[in-house]
Amino acid sequence: MAVRAVVLAAGAGTRMKSDLPKVLHTVAGRPMISWVLSAVRSMELNQIVVVVGVNGDQVRPFLDDDVDVVVQEQRLGTGHATGIALDAISSDEGDAILVAPGDVPLLVPSTLSELIGLHRRTGSAVSVLTAEVGDPAGYGRIMRDGWDRVVGIVEHVDASESQRRIREINGGVYVFDSGLLAEALPKVGLNNIQGEYYLTDVIEILGSEGHPLHALKTVPSEIAGVNSLAQLARVEALMRSRINQTLMGTGVSMQDPDRVYLEADVRVEPGAMLLPDVHLRGQTRVAAGAKVGPNVTAENSTIGPDAHVWYSVLRGAEVGEGVEVGPYASLRPGTVLRKGSKVGTFVETKRSTVGEGSKVPHLSYVGDAQIGRDANIGAGTITCNYDGVAKHETIIGDRAFIGSDTMLVAPVTIGDDAVTGAGSTITKDVSPGALAVERSVQKEIPDYAARRRRKGS
Ligand code: UD1
Ligand code: CA
Repeated sequence: MAVRAVVLAAGAGTRMKSDLPKVLHTVAGRPMISWVLSAVRSMELNQIVVVVGVNGDQVRPFLDDDVDVVVQEQRLGTGHATGIALDAISSDEGDAILVAPGDVPLLVPSTLSELIGLHRRTGSAVSVLTAEVGDPAGYGRIMRDGWDRVVGIVEHVDASESQRRIREINGGVYVFDSGLLAEALPKVGLNNIQGEYYLTDVIEILGSEGHPLHALKTVPSEIAGVNSLAQLARVEALMRSRINQTLMGTGVSMQDPDRVYLEADVRVEPGAMLLPDVHLRGQTRVAAGAKVGPNVTAENSTIGPDAHVWYSVLRGAEVGEGVEVGPYASLRPGTVLRKGSKVGTFVETKRSTVGEGSKVPHLSYVGDAQIGRDANIGAGTITCNYDGVAKHETIIGDRAFIGSDTMLVAPVTIGDDAVTGAGSTITKDVSPGALAVERSVQKEIPDYAARRRRKGS
């Protein structure tokens, strides 16, 4: 029995009150459609068809080459969309069609394979995924007869008072017998409040024709659908909890997992600790023993073993072993902090390397700079890397000591073991081991305060 999948993603997402196609709204940094597709893809099916709508051009770039895309020009309902997908499928007698909506990002592969398994075992016409929920508002309700057999699905808007009290909801995920689905779809009418062709009507049609129907009940969170921004936030919270629980299970410590925000592709090694209000995005990696947070946003960055990063923003930065960052540091793309170095309070770095054991502890801008090992960059040091036209490099040697408030006008090279005097504006290279001072001689005017006082009286 071949199994093919249809993912419905043509909806306008009107209730999201947003111009972005609904399935492109992200959950843990990934578009909803990608979550659904990765769950579906793990079933190793024979074909995956995605139905997109008139805004499909925006969705296509997020779909991999292994899916076939069909366009539903007019949004006439889930039944209509499924019919369009079937036209793109050449299935044999007895094949199964898995249908899933593009707005249920929490679907898990094991539940999908259970549903397909149930379908195979029972030889039913339709197997539908359901859940008992506390608040069923908005969802289709599963109708059962006196023998607890599924007989149909009624949409919330079309349901009577008593039907609305049913707490078993339709997850919108089904496995159909392909032949029976193709036969039933043309029988679906428009007799409902929304004036749409409901895929859900197929269940009642096939049931009334005497075909066996089955339901698989799963946990509510897996089939939480996203129709509004409020539901998106709820699903995001569920996903966050799923990601964080999994990580804690591997040995990552979190003081307050509700306040740790990790995107799907982030990797954290066991033995790392994440404190509240940590946002890790993109391809960020955190190594064992690192302590991150509170209040860190890191995007496409690497945090090495035993590093400590707090109250800081990292973008495209590489933080080495045992490095200390923050509080209040901004590491911009191209920043490399080698083992045991430090970037402290109110320091901004960009396209720069801070060598092993070197320190930039306070109030500095380090851009387009290469700093050697065990150098010390005094408070208030600035690499003046931009002349208004081009960016220039600053090179600082091993063990150099840059005095506080030094302006390093690039391009400039400070040799190994060289020293600059506090407050100097360095425009010329400094030889290794030399002291460069650039400031005027200090004058002293004796009794100045007293003279001033006399003047004033
Ligand atoms: C649908 C189900 C409801 C179920 C819920 C689960 C129907 C009639 N209702 O309701 O029983 O409880 O999902 O989440 O199926 N779509 C298209 N083309 C269309 C209409 C929709 O591709 O013409 C797509 C949407 O993009 C979406 C999915 O189908 O991904 C479901 O549509 P949506 O409007 O969200 O249906 P619900 O009202 O949530
Ligand atoms: Ca929906």
